[in-house]
Amino acid sequence: MLTFIGLGLYDEYDISVKGLETIKNADKVYLEFYTSHLFGTTIENMEKLYGKKVHILKREDVEQYPDWIDEALDKDIVFLTGGDTMVATTHVDLRIRAIDKGIKTSVVHGASIASAVCGLSGLQNYRFGKSTTIPFSYTTSRGKKIISEAPYDTIKSNFEQGLHTLVYLDIDMEKGYMTINKGLEILQEIDKNRGNNFIEDKVSIGIARAGSDNPSIKADYIRSLIGFDFGEPLHIIVIPGPLHFIEAEALVKLADGPEQILEQT
Ligand SMILES: C[S@@+](CC[C@H](N)C(=O)[O-])C[C@H]1O[C@@H](n2cnc3c(N)ncnc32)[C@H](O)[C@@H]1O
Repeated sequence: MLTFIGLGLYDEYDISVKGLETIKNADKVYLEFYTSHLFGTTIENMEKLYGKKVHILKREDVEQYPDWIDEALDKDIVFLTGGDTMVATTHVDLRIRAIDKGIKTSVVHGASIASAVCGLSGLQNYRFGKSTTIPFSYTTSRGKKIISEAPYDTIKSNFEQGLHTLVYLDIDMEKGYMTINKGLEILQEIDKNRGNNFIEDKVSIGIARAGSDNPSIKADYIRSLIGFDFGEPLHIIVIPGPLHFIEAEALVKLADGPEQILEQT
């Protein structure tokens, strides 16, 4: 059996009781931390809680050479991921590969950033459109800077349909964890390059360390939010569409948002 287990958002205690029991009964424990990360713990603390060694997998071990799943043909193998294992990951591909090999699979769900943003900001889950990820820009061998404009287009299209956008921020082994400030700078740069004024006067919400005892949550116009210090990772951005009056009130009261947004509903 191959069991996919979501670890939740911040530390080793965010896992469900079902997830913890499944790990304790497993023959072997694998984990990937390239799609998300639990900043409130360490591998040593996790191993102590589980009473088991945790084997860390790199992206290529999961996406290109997942030979290790063969062990699940006759053993109980668990595969751990931050958040919910199937939210904003490609792990369904691994599950399908396992099924095609005749391996039994199951999923133990975890708390996800996708729902935590609603809990922390008061925005309504059913008013979100397609989510997106802002990747780090890179420079080609000829010195040209490449910025993906897809996140900007997704945000604009959602906004025009009256929907909010959840904006995941890139995790890169070399460049690190993208901050809210960097993500907003990238959106601003695309806006400027296109000669638009779409981003500047939008309200945006930054959330850092969801699931911890000291999450940082702040709503403001992007021109002000871009200089706000959110502290340690992980960070995420929400760019809301037109706000329902209860959402606007929640942003003022839960996210220290500017009172002017109450007048815009
Ligand atoms: C690719 S998504 C994976 C989401 C994960 N599977 C889940 O269900 O929570 C990872 C991104 O979500 C955001 N994120 C995840 N956990 C977070 C947290 N605790 N606080 C703030 N942002 C978080 C960050 O932008 C991070 O780079």
